Amino acid sequence: MSLPELGRLEDLPQDYRDALSAQNLVPLWPSLRAVLPPGKPIPRTRATAWNYQTLRPLLLKAGELTPMEKAERRVLVLANPGHGLEKMQASSTIYLGMQLLLPGEWAPAHRHTPNAVRMIVEGEGAYTTVDGEKCEMQRGDLILTPTGLWHEHGHEGDKPVIWLDVLDLPMVYYMEASYVTEGKAQTISSDAAGLAYQRGGVVPAPMFTRSESAFPMLRYPWVDVRAALQTLARTQPEIDAVQVAYINPETGADAQKILGFSALMLRPDETLQMPARSSATVFHVIEGGASVLAEASSFALGEADTCCIPGYTGITLVNASATEPAFVFMADDAPLQKKLGVYEVRNA
Ligand SMILES: [Fe+2]
Repeated sequence: MSLPELGRLEDLPQDYRDALSAQNLVPLWPSLRAVLPPGKPIPRTRATAWNYQTLRPLLLKAGELTPMEKAERRVLVLANPGHGLEKMQASSTIYLGMQLLLPGEWAPAHRHTPNAVRMIVEGEGAYTTVDGEKCEMQRGDLILTPTGLWHEHGHEGDKPVIWLDVLDLPMVYYMEASYVTEGKAQTISSDAAGLAYQRGGVVPAPMFTRSESAFPMLRYPWVDVRAALQTLARTQPEIDAVQVAYINPETGADAQKILGFSALMLRPDETLQMPARSSATVFHVIEGGASVLAEASSFALGEADTCCIPGYTGITLVNASATEPAFVFMADDAPLQKKLGVYEVRNA
């Protein structure tokens, strides 16, 4: 059903508009349809893909052009043109950046209000120290650096290391709650305390006491996540999607509070229809290749390629191979939307 057309700003006499402006007043009706469009939102987020082989040389060039002390974090931001590149947003709530650390470099300790995760893309020998815990960085690992926790990055290997940063920075910035605190190098107090959580079904409980940490597990090694996906595919061949969620192993809740993370295995030759959800979704290919089809957009993603699809859009994923699985990392803002009561799924 079409809605009646509302009065435009130009319909009002200029002296009246000036009188409103002078009092910091704005008439609602000329903008009402823009902020409350009928049926579904009009997203600024555009379906956009970033090809790794194209951006990689530009990121390595940044390593030549800008020394670490002039960058603090050497990152090329994957910016969505729908929001304007200068806004540095992949979607309304998600920031994506490809970060480069060269052998011997150190990205100094800091902590900030936005939550971050790292999805390791390339290289060996780097580590992130989070809250005193040294987390190795290997291809496909997910490392959390949640709100308020000290973190720094070091590199003991001999080749460049690159990872994908996923932050809720646009959301926290929008709330005017985004800031950073600089610190000095952390003392490493433990080496992957979260390893104790990597056997499903048991959690540390010394003297019957359970951890009350908001983030008990910081590193989710890809080798374990991949094995979980393969086991799921083998033992439950009838399952709709071979997908696992990254969670807080103490509570079963999402690993972070604003953005959610999951990993998907597309079986050989598989075509997977995902319903339209209210949250925008980021896809990053860890292994193999996949096509992402979303309304008028279609992207053929290879390894380490990334794309973002706006919310309220049905998405079809197609494994590019008839013989090999494809593994895809996903991020969205469903945890935030669920907390706010605006999350919805629309089946076609
Ligand atoms: Fe940071």
